[in-house]
Amino acid sequence: MTSDGPRHVAAIMDGNGRWAQARGKPRLFGHHAGARRVREVVRACPDLGVKYLTIFAFSTENWKRTQSEVAGLMSLFRRYIQREARDLLAEGVRVRFIGDRVKLDDKLTRLMDELELLTSHNDRVHLTVALNYGGRDELGRATKRLAREVAAGRLDPETVDETTLARFLDTCFLPDPDLVIRTSGEARISNFLLWQSAYAEYEFIDTLWPDFTAEVFADILASYQTRDRRFGAVTA
Ligand code: IPE
Ligand code: IPE
Ligand code: MG
Repeated sequence: MTSDGPRHVAAIMDGNGRWAQARGKPRLFGHHAGARRVREVVRACPDLGVKYLTIFAFSTENWKRTQSEVAGLMSLFRRYIQREARDLLAEGVRVRFIGDRVKLDDKLTRLMDELELLTSHNDRVHLTVALNYGGRDELGRATKRLAREVAAGRLDPETVDETTLARFLDTCFLPDPDLVIRTSGEARISNFLLWQSAYAEYEFIDTLWPDFTAEVFADILASYQTRDRRFGAVTA
């Protein structure tokens, strides 16, 4: 039995730096080109039947980059939100962010909060942006919150199971991803959606993120439909 189209697609948007380098440009040039692709990919979702799109924009490990690249990315995120907010609202996109906001600067977190509120009544496409996100960091923060509930006597440890833990994750409002795409030829997940991707299908493609067009996206979704998702069962 083959699958319907994926309802939730997650993307590890990798390869911006190499795309820029290949053109003799600074890495940030690649990040700007990558940001422009996000717009195109989000817009393609309704026609492709994708209700949830989750994109990896900045990992908890990305702070290891040079101060100037990190600052450039943070400034790009701020400008992106300011520039795109109106269109996202008009196009029915509900935007939410996952990741630890504590380390992000106040101006950026304020813009993130405002965009979440502004688009909170939209339901056409659910765009989730992972910003200062790491799967292990998320599990650590969730466990801390869960432990606090137990310590306060509001949660009986005997009732804790996998659905309890899922409720404490940043992604508590999302279904699990059906398909995780990583661009740029690296076959690793780099700490992305560790818990949530337990049964996701993976697609690792050589295309660099700034070259990831709506057509490339559509081709991947078409090949997804030929996959046989068994979830541990035996199918005929
Ligand atoms: C992905 O592109 C964007 C972020 C991680 C912020 P990279 O910046 O990792 O690009 P490469 O992998 O160096 O080409
Ligand atoms: C993963 O890409 C993070 C994002 C796309 C935001 P990286 O380029 O940071 O991953 P590694 O370092 O190659 O594993
Ligand atoms: Mg990379």
